[in-house]
Amino acid sequence: MDLLAGHPPCLSARTLERYLGEEESRIHVLRGVTLTLDPGSVHAIVGPSGCGKSSLLYILGLLDNPDAGHLEIGGVPVLSIDDNVASAKRNEMIGFVFQFHFLLEDFTAAENVMIPMRRLGKLTEAEMEERAVLLLEEVGLGAKAKRPSRHLSGGEQQRVAIARALANDPLVLLADEPTGNLDSLNSDRVFSLLTRVVHNRNKALLLVTHNPEIAEKCDWVHEMKDGLIVNTTRNERKG
Ligand SMILES: Nc1ncnc2c1ncn2[C@@H]1O[C@H](COP(=O)(O)OP(=O)(O)O)[C@@H](O)[C@H]1O
Ligand SMILES: [Mg+2]
Repeated sequence: MDLLAGHPPCLSARTLERYLGEEESRIHVLRGVTLTLDPGSVHAIVGPSGCGKSSLLYILGLLDNPDAGHLEIGGVPVLSIDDNVASAKRNEMIGFVFQFHFLLEDFTAAENVMIPMRRLGKLTEAEMEERAVLLLEEVGLGAKAKRPSRHLSGGEQQRVAIARALANDPLVLLADEPTGNLDSLNSDRVFSLLTRVVHNRNKALLLVTHNPEIAEKCDWVHEMKDGLIVNTTRNERKG
């Protein structure tokens, strides 16, 4: 990692705390989570249902605010900024892959991938289209770019969602059980695609997974319990 000395982490979170719910049902969901994602690293979050995995991802992805703590993306503090700036930052710096893909079903695969680019507003229509097709080729769907997404299989739709997450070349990829509803072939395919992008382009990926085979292939595995990371292990990268 010497080559990257001096680069800020893609993401750095310190002592994040979050309470959710009202009054007597108020829960201390995150109780001081600290986590650093360096460029080129793939991280798994594992832990029982309800331990706070999704709540953590929402905060790291600027979809929710913590009650305390500190968060930097690409070396820049992001918690004190106003909502409009936060949503622009999210669109530019973060790619989010959910368990369910949330594609617009009547839109073609390419049109879905162009949505975040349109919001960013840096490319012309032709450039956006060209980039969308390129990203779809990367996920093995070049030939299906013009198909309405409802005519694609579940695995294909999830790959479109990944191409969409990569649309603006984000620094951080966050994925909440991205392979949860896929068969093992598609699950492997989606995972290798994400890790390839991260390792080749010095991004960082944090994914929640219940699949031990996937966790084993990540560089780091963080175990969560009751709103805390209780254990972190490093896996040697193979190949
Ligand atoms: N909007 C909310 N209001 C109240 N409690 C919530 C809310 N969202 C999540 N929780 C609670 O916070 C805890 C952590 O939830 P979550 O982050 O979804 O866990 P995980 O993703 O690990 O299953 C759970 O006890 C859940 O019921
Ligand atoms: Mg969850």
